[in-house]
Amino acid sequence: MKKQLLIKNGVVVNEDRQFKADVYIQDGVIQKVGEIDQSSLPNDCPVLDVAGKLLVPGGIDTHTHFQLPFMGTVAVDDFDIGTKASIAGGTTFIIDFVIPSKGESILKAYDQWRKWADEKVNCDYSLHVAITWWSEEVSRDMEILVKERGVNSFKVFMAYKGSFMVTDEEMFHIFKRCKELGAIAQVHAENGDMVHEGQKKMLEMGICGPEGHEMARPEEVEAEATNRAIMIANRVNTPVYIVHVMSKGAAEVISKHKKEGKKVYGEPIAAGLGVDGTHMWNKDWRHAAAYVMGPPIRPDPQTKEVLMDYLASGDLSCVGTDNCTFCADQKALGKDDFTKIPNGVNGVEDRMSIVWENGVNKGKLTPSEFVRATSSAAAKIFNIYPQKGRIDVGSDGDIAVWDPQATKTISASTHHHAVDFNIFEGIQVKGIATHTIVSGNVVWENNTLKTVKGSGKFVPRKPFGCVFDGIVTRDELRNELLRKVDREPYTGPVIVLDK
Ligand code: URP
Ligand code: ZN
Ligand code: ZN
Ligand code: ZN
Repeated sequence: MKKQLLIKNGVVVNEDRQFKADVYIQDGVIQKVGEIDQSSLPNDCPVLDVAGKLLVPGGIDTHTHFQLPFMGTVAVDDFDIGTKASIAGGTTFIIDFVIPSKGESILKAYDQWRKWADEKVNCDYSLHVAITWWSEEVSRDMEILVKERGVNSFKVFMAYKGSFMVTDEEMFHIFKRCKELGAIAQVHAENGDMVHEGQKKMLEMGICGPEGHEMARPEEVEAEATNRAIMIANRVNTPVYIVHVMSKGAAEVISKHKKEGKKVYGEPIAAGLGVDGTHMWNKDWRHAAAYVMGPPIRPDPQTKEVLMDYLASGDLSCVGTDNCTFCADQKALGKDDFTKIPNGVNGVEDRMSIVWENGVNKGKLTPSEFVRATSSAAAKIFNIYPQKGRIDVGSDGDIAVWDPQATKTISASTHHHAVDFNIFEGIQVKGIATHTIVSGNVVWENNTLKTVKGSGKFVPRKPFGCVFDGIVTRDELRNELLRKVDREPYTGPVIVLDK
């Protein structure tokens, strides 16, 4: 028997237009969009009447770290709880990061992440892979990941000196390899040496609390690395994606380079769009530590407004979360030294509502721009469009029923995360997912999850997506400018250097 669902009386919102429509999904794929005569469908087809609510493509969170082993402990939102929290907020697809240790096989790490995720995910997912060291073996295995394992994005870290950080030279070679393989280079952009020196200075001054985290790595540390990453990618002539853009300075750098025609994409995250970093100065250590992540959430309260403006203009492309959650007792590993506080915050559940509240409700984003920012742009950049990120015939049946009038107050006491704190605690949002449909199944309704653990699929992503359009032409045009001058051999005097 075919699995089916008819969604009646919706307003479909895609990135390019919105229109009244019904949507019919069969076996996980959208078959019809428009006015659908129910009598044309089998009698037993379940019907969900959404009474004029918006139907938006299920959200895509480009940046999660479910059950990440990190800084001596493990993130508490695993692939089960993490994807449940996603679905409760209208997100139906996540891209997590495989992060191998230095020296570890990137293939082995990938297999480990697949095992962790495949057993638990409640919605479809995909994987980016971090390159934390460089060798012939890594270069060879990157090809295997792209050609045989469905990876088309690799992240490098310019920070985390001594563990994940790579040098500029390594970054250059990794970017070159990404270009050959048609994979997008992703960058955690902070100057790792300056972070390290800043941390030492804070501790020497006796500033050991969470506030030291931001002061050790202020905006310019992020902006400089962002500029350097874009410059290196431009030397290689390959597209680059800056993950978790947290500061005005970094966003400005991206905007400037974009205007100059560089192939750069920037990802703000829910935390940066939804709160400010002044919480790290809170007198309550557990409260302050909950906001520690890297790059830091900036204390300037204007930052979230400015990042939203860049998102509205398209200079920043799509919204992730960097969901990487640690409970207060885990954060307390750094009670006497902020450099030991496990870095990371929540976001995957609240991302869509935070973007709606601070974007659409502030008149900065249209509903279609909201869709672009929360799913379509990501689907294009990571080459899964229009399978994901669009409501159309042939697209996957992943849809959020969005009620722009419904409100909720975000709280750790009601969220679906495993973490015991929510950085958006007490924020009231207007605009929430009342229903979430994953692969044609209504898995979130009436504030209740009906998810099936392990039912999500790994979605392989092909290389050479649209972000690579024009790269060959640019190479040809640039190479035409690199001309050798033909001249007679020099035969004049040459000084003799002292031995
Ligand atoms: O604080 C963060 N961002 N934790 C996760 C690791 C990373 O850099 O993305
Ligand atoms: Zn990072
Ligand atoms: Zn606070
Ligand atoms: Zn991250």
